[in-house]
Amino acid sequence: MLNKIGLIGGGNIGGVLMQEVVKRQLAREVAMVDIKEPDLAKGKALDIAEGSSTIGADVRCIGGKEYDVIEGSDLVINTAGVPRTTRPDGTIPTREELLATNLKITDAVSEGIQKYCPKATIVSVANPLDAIVYKLYLNLKPAKNKLMGMAGALDSARYRHFVAFEANVSVENVTAMVLGGHGDSMLPIRSACRVAGMPVDDFVSAERLAEIETRTRKAGGEVVKLLGSGSAFVSPAWGVLDMVEAIAYDKRKIVPTCVLLTGEYGVDGLFIGVPVILGKNGVEQVVEMELTAEEKEAFKNSVAAVQKTVDEVDSMS
Ligand code: LAC
Repeated sequence: MLNKIGLIGGGNIGGVLMQEVVKRQLAREVAMVDIKEPDLAKGKALDIAEGSSTIGADVRCIGGKEYDVIEGSDLVINTAGVPRTTRPDGTIPTREELLATNLKITDAVSEGIQKYCPKATIVSVANPLDAIVYKLYLNLKPAKNKLMGMAGALDSARYRHFVAFEANVSVENVTAMVLGGHGDSMLPIRSACRVAGMPVDDFVSAERLAEIETRTRKAGGEVVKLLGSGSAFVSPAWGVLDMVEAIAYDKRKIVPTCVLLTGEYGVDGLFIGVPVILGKNGVEQVVEMELTAEEKEAFKNSVAAVQKTVDEVDSMS
């Protein structure tokens, strides 16, 4: 159990996170900050606190408009930023189109973390994922193990769900890995997808797998279109919680995570989704997995897409 988890942003993902942190009793205290009037974060915290006796969860919930509520957090989850949402003409923006707005918000987030919990482990969720984590890094310069982005946990969960549904087996039987950036160039690693330890190809045809992988890459957009307003929030929150549980319980669980690469996978100075061991120190180790020649090429393309957005961050910084 952690002592305190700080949630930055009181939107849909933040709301699910607070409920689940309480339900799963991941920390003694959970605090949410959101600038929204009249006092959204305080309201959400109060609502959840008032229900906590029903489920017997002794987790203190606080919320407020000022960053001081997250003071002393040992782990901070950043969800602050505008989500993707369907435009009036029915089209949807790419995650990268959120960049300018969300970069400004990230500066405020960085100040809050710097002031009130500079030693916290940070898990960021705001989009465009890889670029916002990079911006947090520029602003805060934390140790490599302390800053990460959640995308691979969600993208892999989507891939696992689609494969399990297609193979008509339990999701528990399916392991999978989606690497690279959290954009349309992300790469589901078919060679690492297993059904109860057996190659996925034994259960799903190559044609259907190709369709599933395309759907996985576009899965965030599919939900945005269906919701009409805003983007997916339950599955992203559960993805974060998978990572937080690994850290809180020192599970040393391998989860695809957006981390700073310093030479691994031939990348230096970018935050990219790769398998890492998550434990009490945050990112305990980057795991370098064998990729096929085709996967290596796709990984390079995904890195190039992240680099393009990061170049924009640099030009705006
Ligand atoms: C998604 C958003 C949260 O993939 O990036 O649904």
